[in-house]
Amino acid sequence: MINKYIFGKPFETNAVQNDIHESSGKIGYVTVSEDGSEISYTLGKNDKVYGLGEAVRGINKRGWIYETYCSDDPMHTETKRSLYGGHPFIIVDGEEVFGIFVDYPDRVTFDIGYTNVNSLNIKVGEPNYKLYIIDGDTPLDIVKSFRHLIGRSYIAPFWSFGFQQSRWSYNTSKDVRNVIDNYRQNDFPIDAVYLDIDYMDSFKDFTVSDERFPDFAEFVKSVKDDNIHLVPIIDAGIKIENGYNVYEEGRDNNYFCKDKNGKDFIAAVWPGKVCFPDFLNSKAAEWFGMKYKILTDLGIDGFWNDMNEPAIFYSETGLEKAFEKIASYKGKNIGVYDFFGLKDTVLGLSNSYDDYSGMYHNVDGEIICHNKIHNIYGYNMTKSASDAFKKIEPDKNILMFSRASYIGMHRYSGIWMGDNQSWWSHIKLNLQMLPSLNMCGFLYTGADMVGFGDNCTEELALRWLALGIFNPLMRNHSALGTRNQEFYRFENRTAFRNLLKLRYALIPYLYSEYVKSVENNDMMFKPLAFEYRGDKFAAAVEDQLMVGEYIMIAPVYEPNAIGRSVYVPEEDMLAVHFKSENDYIIEHYSKGHHFVEIPNDEVVIFIRKGKALPLVNSGDCTANLDYSTLHFIGNTESNFEYTIYVESGVKEGESIVEKKTIKNKYTLK
Ligand code: GLC
Repeated sequence: MINKYIFGKPFETNAVQNDIHESSGKIGYVTVSEDGSEISYTLGKNDKVYGLGEAVRGINKRGWIYETYCSDDPMHTETKRSLYGGHPFIIVDGEEVFGIFVDYPDRVTFDIGYTNVNSLNIKVGEPNYKLYIIDGDTPLDIVKSFRHLIGRSYIAPFWSFGFQQSRWSYNTSKDVRNVIDNYRQNDFPIDAVYLDIDYMDSFKDFTVSDERFPDFAEFVKSVKDDNIHLVPIIDAGIKIENGYNVYEEGRDNNYFCKDKNGKDFIAAVWPGKVCFPDFLNSKAAEWFGMKYKILTDLGIDGFWNDMNEPAIFYSETGLEKAFEKIASYKGKNIGVYDFFGLKDTVLGLSNSYDDYSGMYHNVDGEIICHNKIHNIYGYNMTKSASDAFKKIEPDKNILMFSRASYIGMHRYSGIWMGDNQSWWSHIKLNLQMLPSLNMCGFLYTGADMVGFGDNCTEELALRWLALGIFNPLMRNHSALGTRNQEFYRFENRTAFRNLLKLRYALIPYLYSEYVKSVENNDMMFKPLAFEYRGDKFAAAVEDQLMVGEYIMIAPVYEPNAIGRSVYVPEEDMLAVHFKSENDYIIEHYSKGHHFVEIPNDEVVIFIRKGKALPLVNSGDCTANLDYSTLHFIGNTESNFEYTIYVESGVKEGESIVEKKTIKNKYTLK
């Protein structure tokens, strides 16, 4: 049961697809201040709070203050309040169980026991929003009702469940070819290689450098023949350059965001000065979406949308003010406060609130300040692409995922978890964000495996891969200037090969559980707390997940570990220690706490009683997986059946997925 309450004049975010009528009754569970700007609730001692999608800290969000505000911030330390997505949905799980969705496209602050340990206090930027209060017996019931409300999640193309390699600094087609050859020669399966901003001509969207990527269409075709998809990046900012048609069309048709004087709003990102397409204007959005055709015509069938919070290095006005301020320090004996002031002047140039306040949208006739709709900018960029794909290539399911997001965008694309670091703590953060994102509808997701910023080690790469093989979006991505981390760079290639192959062996299961979760508004990744209700140990587990209906994972995320403690939440779970898809040993575990030895070249999968895990013989890419080799490792006696979901074609830009039930073909170990 869901109740909806309207405060003020909400801006339509289109987060909700199956909307309901406004309730006339009294608001349940929470107290809302008279002007609507504050929502509060007293938490019981043991209440847990879940949700918030892309955010730092644990699965249980209690004990911190968060803001849903799309932010370009690569330092995901535990004291941050927001990351790239804004997902204002939480569930209180305690004496009372209910969900809260604050549908508001700008900043919402969730103080979850930070100011006062027992208070949940939500502050909404302006009291113009829709509030949904969701009832249910369990957190999972609430998730399902919420997900029904917001509409069906995106189903990515089957090939994008294969492994994907990326790095910012594949500068030429030769570099890309070299990556592909290394993967293939080492017998490492792979399905895609990414093109970061390096492929463009002077960082201009929808251009390809002739010099570094000559004969691009031919290149795309030649790598496709090797079953490799190339996935280029598209940034939100359009370079200001006379003669660049995308810029000129945008300028001439007033498709760009404006400043307070009605002139094009100018800021700087990779190419220097840019304008931002006004994705909230339907004509501008349609125009931008159709630009992807330039690349789909060259054979491209996947994209990642970036810098769409939008990220701003500096604005023209911000930079002028900064220069004035810096000049005022010249010749001074700069003491502590002046020095901090000087530093902050430069650091404060990026992604500044003042800049966003000076940026305006023309929402089909109505002029709206960016600060009122900040969180749905990236969402609308991505929707513009997704809408266009259906017209441009209705016979293809084009891969799409974005950095910035808001609830509702989950219907059109996936997201990646942004610029993380090669830190051990970010393996755990990767794990913890999976269920939180699933709650908000984002199923096609994953972190930059092995870490985007900073230098990795071989051990970290292996341990991260052992979690990465379960991420629907399984991409190794790293920043310019960091240590190279393609898997063939490391010494123990056998271990990397085996784990990559294990991913491919698991694809029938992962893809099936993914599609099932989409169809049933379910979570593919569940905290143990959601599955084992009433078990206080399960409720406290922050570093293990149920993956689909049959298995549990418990990855290692600490250096120099020989294993880890695992809470086994039910009797007779099978722990399958995979060295490779064909080389494994099995242990039986009883319910309770155990120390499980897990060397760093192994993945352990816990199979639930009465269930069996389907595996296929791995191939070098998804196209070469032979489903006739399907077999099971089981924790069941007989009469076992499993429903496999298979992509059998594409209609109107979406995968057609067929179900096949497979019976009794299992190996009991
Ligand atoms: C942003 C993206 C990152 C990309 C870089 C260069 O930081 O988040 O993934 O590599 O820009 O385009």
